[in-house]
Amino acid sequence: MSNDILFEIKDLEVSYGSIAAIKGISLDVRKGEIVTILGANGAGKTTTMRTISQLLKAKAGSITFKGQELTKLPAHKIVKLGISHSPEGRRVFGILTVEENLMLGAFSQSKMDREVLDWVYQLFPRLKERRKQLAGTLSGGEQQMLAIGRSLMSKPEMLLLDEPSLGIAPILVKAIFKQIKEIAEKGVTVLLVEQNAKAALKLADRGYVLDVGKIVFSGTSEELLASEKVQEAYLGKKH
Ligand SMILES: Nc1ncnc2c1ncn2[C@@H]1O[C@H](COP(=O)(O)OP(=O)(O)O)[C@@H](O)[C@H]1O
Ligand SMILES: [Mg+2]
Repeated sequence: MSNDILFEIKDLEVSYGSIAAIKGISLDVRKGEIVTILGANGAGKTTTMRTISQLLKAKAGSITFKGQELTKLPAHKIVKLGISHSPEGRRVFGILTVEENLMLGAFSQSKMDREVLDWVYQLFPRLKERRKQLAGTLSGGEQQMLAIGRSLMSKPEMLLLDEPSLGIAPILVKAIFKQIKEIAEKGVTVLLVEQNAKAALKLADRGYVLDVGKIVFSGTSEELLASEKVQEAYLGKKH
């Protein structure tokens, strides 16, 4: 892990009409890290991810990737810059096959890279087995694998993962998180949003805790796991 800051959010504010959802957050991600943003339902995790991808516009603050300001760019430019977003709820195209979904993930490339497709199939052999199957017929966990695989097809430098464990059987969560680690080891920086603090902190180098639009705690995964406040609020332990 190097100390180069790859990605930085500074004093970000995001509102839905008159309602403030993100109230001035700052965070950074270094090249090669897995950084997690933890928080309960409604904390503002998805809002943050969608604002990074420019699907939502910031009201104030800055978001930079490799020194470039993102907040003034249209959403389609973000993928081209090397940031790929696997959205909450997976959003795979149910009436397309697994392989067609993966090919759509390569839309920003002039042609699909067979090597990346092979890598995705190596990470998630189930997708290879089911490549001709309609995505809508996959289980939730398999759809999550597909969503992650699809987001890799644009060959991102940084991957945004919004609650990959949501609604998935624990055994598949384990399998998927293992592959997220593998993806990071291949040099893809990961920003992981999770409600499942335990699973996320096992994987991540560092984390930020978001609570009603504000970062209330940050540190290494060890520090967060050891913090009584974090344990009580997010790991279900009483002191
Ligand atoms: N489209 C929307 N319009 C109005 N309010 C929204 C919208 N999406 C999210 N919110 C509100 O913004 C806050 C943060 O939501 P969200 O980012 O989805 O949280 P999380 O992903 O952490 O569960 C919540 O209070 C939520 O109700
Ligand atoms: Mg969310």
